[in-house]
Amino acid sequence: MVKSLGPVSQQRTTTIFSPAKINLFLAITGRRSDGYHDLVSVVTPLDFGDHLMAEAGTRPPDAGKQFSLGCDHPEVPVDDSNLILKAAEAFAVATGWAEPVAFQLEKCIPVGAGLGGGSSNATAALLALNQLSGANLGRAELAALAAGVGSDCPLFLEDRPVIMRGRGERIELLPEAAAGRLRGRRVLVFKPSLGVSTAWAYERMAAGAPQSYLPAGEAERRIAAWIEGNADADELLFNNLEPVVFRKFLALPTLLDRLGHQFGLAPRMSGSGSACFALLPSGAPVSVMVAVIREAWGPVCFAQVVAIT
Ligand code: C5P
Repeated sequence: MVKSLGPVSQQRTTTIFSPAKINLFLAITGRRSDGYHDLVSVVTPLDFGDHLMAEAGTRPPDAGKQFSLGCDHPEVPVDDSNLILKAAEAFAVATGWAEPVAFQLEKCIPVGAGLGGGSSNATAALLALNQLSGANLGRAELAALAAGVGSDCPLFLEDRPVIMRGRGERIELLPEAAAGRLRGRRVLVFKPSLGVSTAWAYERMAAGAPQSYLPAGEAERRIAAWIEGNADADELLFNNLEPVVFRKFLALPTLLDRLGHQFGLAPRMSGSGSACFALLPSGAPVSVMVAVIREAWGPVCFAQVVAIT
C-alpha cells in the first residue's frame, strides 16, 4: 500500500466532522475462531458528532513522536491508547508519510456509549491525513486501514446508512429507497452516566451461547423484508445485545419501558450501550420526554435530538 507522495502537499490544516452512529438493527450471530463475533447490523451516521482538527508541520511536544493529540474533554485519553493515534500510526506505516501532525479533538459524543465515537474519530484521522499528505488513498485502502484499527471504523467512511457484516468490517450501502425512509428522521439519543464496556458485553453474550445469538440467516431475512417492504423505520429496530446489558443495568429497561408506555415510543439501545435512542414521531413532546429521562437518570444525563443523515 506504500505510495509515492509526489510534491509536498500545500494544505497544512484540515477539520473533519466525525459523526456519531446508531445501530438501528444489530444481530450478533455467533462467535468466530479469532475470538470476535460475527454480526449483521444496519447502522446509520447522525448529524451530531465531534470535530477533529489536524495541523501538519507542527512539532509535537514529545519530539520523538510524529503525532500529538489534545482534547477539550478531560475523560478522553490523549495517549497512545486513543484510536486517533493508532489510526495515524497505521497511516504513516502504510504511506511512508513522516511529517509531524498535531490533532485537536472537540468532543461532543459521549464515551462508553455505543455511539461509535472513538471509531469515528479514528476514521476522521485517516481522512485528515489522506488530505494533508496528498497520499490520496482510495476507499478500499482506507477501509483496510480502518478495519485494522477497530471493527466499527470502516462504516464511518460512508455518510449514509449501511449494512455491516463480519466483525463489522464488511460494509454495504443500504439501497437508496430504504435509506430514503430513514434520512432526516429525528432521533432522541440519551445516555445514563454509566458506560458499558464493549468487550464485557460481548463476553456476556458468549457466556449465554447459543441462545443469545440470532442465526445469520434469520437476521438477513429480517433486514431484507424491511428493505423490500414499506414498513416504518420503527419496524426495523432490533438489538440482541440488550438482554445481556439489561440484566446488569436495570435502569435501562426500566426507562425504555416507561417511554414506550407513556409516549408510544419504541426505544432501543445502540450497539453495546449504554446510550439508547428513540425515533421521534412528528409533534413528539420532546421536552416532556427529556424531563422523564432526567427524572430517571439524573438531571445532567445526556439527552439530545439529532437526525439521521
Ligand atoms: O473492535 P473493537 O476494538 O471495537 O472491539 C472491542 C471488543 O469488543 C473486542 O476486543 C471484542 O472483545 C469485542 N468485539 C467482538 N466482536 C465484534 C466487535 C467487537 O467480540 N464484532
